Amino acid sequence: MDTKKIDISTSIKKIKLSSCIMNASGALCSTEQELNKLLKSSSGAIITKSCTSSPRKGNMNPRYFFCKKYGSINSMGLPNLGIDFYLDFFEKKKTKKPIFLSISGLSKEENFFLLRKANLSSKISAVELNLSCPNILGKDKKNNMINIGYDSYKLSYFLKEVFKLYEKPLGLKLPPYFNEIHIKNIAFTLNKYPIYFVTCINSIPNGIFINSTNESVVISPKKGFGGIGGKMIKPFALANIRLFYLYLRKEISIIGCGGITNGKDIFDHVLCGASAVQVGTQFIEEGLTIFDRLEKEFISILDKKNYLSINNFKGNLKKNLI
Ligand code: DHB
Repeated sequence: MDTKKIDISTSIKKIKLSSCIMNASGALCSTEQELNKLLKSSSGAIITKSCTSSPRKGNMNPRYFFCKKYGSINSMGLPNLGIDFYLDFFEKKKTKKPIFLSISGLSKEENFFLLRKANLSSKISAVELNLSCPNILGKDKKNNMINIGYDSYKLSYFLKEVFKLYEKPLGLKLPPYFNEIHIKNIAFTLNKYPIYFVTCINSIPNGIFINSTNESVVISPKKGFGGIGGKMIKPFALANIRLFYLYLRKEISIIGCGGITNGKDIFDHVLCGASAVQVGTQFIEEGLTIFDRLEKEFISILDKKNYLSINNFKGNLKKNLI
């Protein structure tokens, strides 16, 4: 009988997760009921829906569509219950799980406001600041955060301001980049700041799914255009994780997000350099039992490979065929 103990715990600097698998922001983490269920699940941490300073209803329905073969498209438009709801919710809870608060102010000033509030909470382990919400409609376009994730000069100036007023652990949810030089430039900027982690990648913006029977788009907002997630985006997530792993200071952890549906996907994310992973589309489709299934599948792969912890192979992707 094999008695070896495989440990899939991880840490994001000083934040300890008993499992490296957690939900992605936006996936079943908006309401009191959803967050209570996540608290009871075997996810290694919880992240909230990206919140704003006041509650928002979001875009018109249908605004999410899933297709098993490829993944999902969404144009939710940041429906959330407002930061006070999320802070109050966790203030009342006792849990050992790290709690990540996702924030997505529509302007720099709104993000400063949200960060000041998060600073005062003792229950939030870290803020994941969303630099890349792709689904805001024209009427919300006082937005001066648009494309900040794609502009290292603006980003640097913004982060300088952020660290003047925010002292707790901070991570950034990054958009996908499609050229190595872009990642090199962004990493060069991020390396100057005391960032805890980056999450790679947010949904790939400006996709379109088509129903060829109806000859129409499948979601209503923005003429059917939306952010793409799920299976289809895994290669882009892996490339972003890999390049950030190579270019970021080693003290900045990477949380992988994009296209995880099974244990092998988690293995691939960690091999590229992820210290933890987030599951979005597949969590929405499968529900809370996904965490147990993924954990089992991931452990079984490590077992076959004789790895006892993620540190045995994290970031060790070979660059040549063997
Ligand atoms: C939404 C979508 C995103 O990809 C994101 O990062 C934040 C919010 C949304 O439409 O609600």
